[in-house]
Amino acid sequence: MKRTLVLSCLALATAVVGAGCSGDDDDGPKVVVYNAQHEQLLEELAPKFEKETGIEVELRNGPDSELAAQLIQEGDASPADVFLTENSPAMSAVEREGLFAPLDAKATDPIPAQYRPESGLWTGFVARSTVLVYNPSLISADELPASIMDLADPKYAGMVSFSPTGADFQAIVAAVLDLEGEDATRAWLAGLEANGTTYDGNNVVLEAVNSGESAIGIEYHYYWYRDQAEAGENSDDSELYFFGNQDPGAFLSISGAGVLENADHPKEAQQFVAFLTSDEGQQALADSYALEYPLSPAASLPSEVKPFSELQPPTVAISDLDGDKVVELMTEIGFL
Ligand SMILES: [Fe+2]
Repeated sequence: MKRTLVLSCLALATAVVGAGCSGDDDDGPKVVVYNAQHEQLLEELAPKFEKETGIEVELRNGPDSELAAQLIQEGDASPADVFLTENSPAMSAVEREGLFAPLDAKATDPIPAQYRPESGLWTGFVARSTVLVYNPSLISADELPASIMDLADPKYAGMVSFSPTGADFQAIVAAVLDLEGEDATRAWLAGLEANGTTYDGNNVVLEAVNSGESAIGIEYHYYWYRDQAEAGENSDDSELYFFGNQDPGAFLSISGAGVLENADHPKEAQQFVAFLTSDEGQQALADSYALEYPLSPAASLPSEVKPFSELQPPTVAISDLDGDKVVELMTEIGFL
């Protein structure tokens, strides 16, 4: 149905050049969102925005790096109005190409300054904490390392699992790179390569640890909490471990939201991002299935999730994460 409308619109545009064929005439106001955050989260949030504003949200889903590359390739011709990511390196990549418009103060004001770039070209809207998930029948809590850097130690040979192809793990590597430097990161990755087993996806890592296939998994907090909130099938036999202490392993990864400079629906796009960061949007996010941390102090998660104030993350400037360098280092090691 949609395709027919688009095609007839194109035909019309060819016949009558510039005859105001925005696509809105048939459909009413809408916003096109390139969404690299978890699909299910936006499928919960978008209807709330639609109901409140009458603006239709069209979600086009994909991974961080793929959608960032698509935006960069499409440039001015992109149909995207809004870009949402799981992790910030993909936001920085699009920002570097000059593709974002400044956000309205209404969208940025509710979010503390450390969770958005100084440029004002995008904002964080939710955070995820790096954790270890471990299987207590294979390793006890007091045998776990004080730092994520120690997982490269031969002591942990055969014990560590992670999902290197995902943007989540790559953001953690970007934090290690920012905090520890290139040489230390290269050595750490080589140690992980020697000690580890790689899986495709963080849920698979969780399953591997829970089933006893692997002792330790590196991932974000919500995979374990979500499974617990469901039936605990893939998490009941495992535990979470938070590094805290400003360790690189306590890295807090920020999901970003921005409006494209060339948006066809700039007003609606600004409204959508402002909804995500508003008290209402942040609380809706906290109440959703996601169990990721809202960034506005006005919202809070259910009490079973470790409080945001107790995470003790390291200080990582949100614009300093170098996704390209991470891909280079991980390719060198053979992870990608
Ligand atoms: Fe994730």
